[in-house]
Amino acid sequence: MTSVLPRPVAATEPVARPRHYVMCRPEHFEVRYAINPWMRPGEPVDRERAVAQWEALRQTYVDLGHRVDLIDPVPGLPDMVYAANGATVVDGVVLCARFRHPERAPEAAAHRAFFAAAGYPVVEPRFVNEGEGDLLVVGDVVLAGYGFRTDPRAHAEVAAVFEREVVPLELVDPRYYHLDTAVAVLDDATIAWLPAAFSPAAQEELRARFPDAVVASPADAAVLGLNAVSDGRHVVLPAQATGLAAALRERGYEPVPVDLSELLKGGGGPKCCTLEVRS
Ligand code: ARG
Repeated sequence: MTSVLPRPVAATEPVARPRHYVMCRPEHFEVRYAINPWMRPGEPVDRERAVAQWEALRQTYVDLGHRVDLIDPVPGLPDMVYAANGATVVDGVVLCARFRHPERAPEAAAHRAFFAAAGYPVVEPRFVNEGEGDLLVVGDVVLAGYGFRTDPRAHAEVAAVFEREVVPLELVDPRYYHLDTAVAVLDDATIAWLPAAFSPAAQEELRARFPDAVVASPADAAVLGLNAVSDGRHVVLPAQATGLAAALRERGYEPVPVDLSELLKGGGGPKCCTLEVRS
């Protein structure tokens, strides 16, 4: 009998893990209300281009070996393309979202129905949480943003439902209204982040927990460079975030640039469009 041993890799070399994502095609995407500073309802949006850019993102994940399931877009819900906000899934348990703004509120039910139909146990929240927009799983802990969208009272719910430590982090810059615009999870122990997006206490917390974190420049954050999706090795990020891409490469990650310029007009990037299902 022959045994095949894995090729030895350096202890520091980042390792990819196949992922399971849910995405929502931007068939009804438009910017007709403003609930974050990126959104300018008067400015034109090219929906065809948005769909093409989104398709390229989906294909990128497939090419990297990941599974992508699609949730049906609902007419009248232009922000539903930002699927990351629709729920949080840890250990096969779905904590549904509850949106801050009425414009997005019905998205929660669409996600709940999607996961229930797929056989997942779903938990209805009491307090506002905008899914993975503000709840980022890093190894065994959940980083939890608040200040603009997610109600800090949701943090105890998250801890109880997932039986994980939850780390509250206050966001202070309206451009970085969701945690996933100011922190990118690179692997189970590493993040990239923009310190200025956080309160002094939150900065201290993140510095203590992640002394080796990649610190993003304000310029890279300002193109939503931190709204990135990592499989542990490949980091899918906005093509405009060239400085961050270089910093990641230096650390052994493989940056995978994508152009989502149309979806940036709604205030979102690759991560916003990508909900991770953790079984
Ligand atoms: N227009 C959306 C909103 O303001 C964008 C959401 C972006 N999603 C994210 N995960 N940051 O709610």
